[in-house]
Amino acid sequence: MYLTKEAKEFLSSDEAFDKLLPIYIQSLSNIHWTPLNVALMAAQFLAPDANAKVIDIGAGIGKFCIAGACCTKGTFTGIEQRKNFVTIGNKAIKKLGVANAELLHGNFTELDITSYTGVYFYNSFHENLVFEDALDNKVEMSTELYEKYSAHLLNQLNAMPVGTRLATFWLSVTEIPGCYKLKESHFNNLLKLWVKES
Ligand SMILES: C[S@@+](CC[C@H](N)C(=O)[O-])C[C@H]1O[C@@H](n2cnc3c(N)ncnc32)[C@H](O)[C@@H]1O
Repeated sequence: MYLTKEAKEFLSSDEAFDKLLPIYIQSLSNIHWTPLNVALMAAQFLAPDANAKVIDIGAGIGKFCIAGACCTKGTFTGIEQRKNFVTIGNKAIKKLGVANAELLHGNFTELDITSYTGVYFYNSFHENLVFEDALDNKVEMSTELYEKYSAHLLNQLNAMPVGTRLATFWLSVTEIPGCYKLKESHFNNLLKLWVKES
């Protein structure tokens, strides 16, 4: 994909990317947004060609989608429940002129993800278990919601076609259905790359 000089600059480091974001959002970056080197490796696995359609479940301000869209020929969609994050992310996408990325506002449970060829998941439901790690207090959080979201994700992953690619960050092996085969792991096993084989 053709990248403007501005896009190249913002994607040159995590610190440079943060400059796209309002200050109050930058303070969340270290913990809550995927580091660029991780995002690039995951995106290249998830989008090997121009037919790839990748969904980021819990996209935050769209860092993974933006990085993926800039370093591959695939299309990246993020679904995010916090409206302010979606607004910030879509503004950044527009500013950088990234054509193959978009953020949708909503709860991922309202979206059928089975038409996507690749799924990215950065342990998005964790804040329902550890409230100190919550991004803010703008959404409802509870262990019941964690269980509901995890069960829904499991169902969706099971329903995906054989060949679906999955990248997980900060997730244990036990949380992924057995029909996905682990192909690679990187960054001290924090990033795991999977393919659905049955
Ligand atoms: C750890 S952040 C990851 C952000 C992004 N994927 C990245 O890697 O930079 C997790 C995000 O998931 C969102 N999230 C959590 N549960 C969600 C749900 N049920 N539906 C949509 N978004 C959700 C949170 O609001 C948060 O922005």
